[in-house]
Amino acid sequence: MSAGGLFPAASSSVLPVGMDPSGAARGCSNTTKNDQESELDDDLTPSKLGTKEYWDDAYQRELETFKDIGDVGEIWFGEESMGRVIKCLEKENVPTDAAILDIGTGNGVLLVELARCGFTNLTGIDYSAAAVELARNVLEKEDVSNVKVEVVDFLSPAVDLTGFDLCIDKGTFDAISLNPEDAAGAKAHYLKALQGALREGGLFIITSCNWTKDQLLHMFSQGFEFLRELPTPSFQFGGRTGNSVTALVLKRVR
Ligand SMILES: C[S@@+](CC[C@H](N)C(=O)[O-])C[C@H]1O[C@@H](n2cnc3c(N)ncnc32)[C@H](O)[C@@H]1O
Repeated sequence: MSAGGLFPAASSSVLPVGMDPSGAARGCSNTTKNDQESELDDDLTPSKLGTKEYWDDAYQRELETFKDIGDVGEIWFGEESMGRVIKCLEKENVPTDAAILDIGTGNGVLLVELARCGFTNLTGIDYSAAAVELARNVLEKEDVSNVKVEVVDFLSPAVDLTGFDLCIDKGTFDAISLNPEDAAGAKAHYLKALQGALREGGLFIITSCNWTKDQLLHMFSQGFEFLRELPTPSFQFGGRTGNSVTALVLKRVR
């Protein structure tokens, strides 16, 4: 697989806290990034959100709900996160035929939005077969064709994932960083896979709620150059201001 206005009313929350009704370990903490004094490469507390079983179950449920009532389910970081990415593509003058890879596409709603904005060379991958089935169903319902969506584990792809002009990650690196068995190894694999997927000069747009700007820049320092930070909502608490979400644009360099 080398590079070659869906805003449902019954959609999701701004942060993905609703993903885990039990209130058990979640993907995002609610401390502000400015409050954190963690080391640059600190590991997160392992969580079930770092397992394939979790996502298989979650998307199996979402797939059934979609089939029942047409709700696409969780859009991580809310609808505004998609607008932020699309605005960035416009600002960076990304051509509409750019080869775009959505890493861990989930329900595929970002692909629908990108297609609606005229992008024609779209690929979504996810290691959860249920997510891929959901994404295909959503694309079909929205009458979007010519988008490739495949079951692929980004950390050990069984297909050739190279030559992309742009890779987008919305919440997937966060999930991968929560791997309960070997988070450091998973992050290292991710970096290698990303370096392989993006052509030199290509862009990487990452949205994270688990890592600060400094941490992301540290983790993606090899082979990437920082271009800009995208504005994300900030809030005040106890007289301090912070952001719960970080969105960065990086460029693949030698
Ligand atoms: C937090 S969800 C984000 C989904 C989607 N990007 C969004 O913004 O709504 C994380 C996604 O990453 C996928 N994922 C996690 N690890 C993966 C891997 N190694 N390869 C491919 N997909 C993965 C999960 O199945 C899930 O769909």
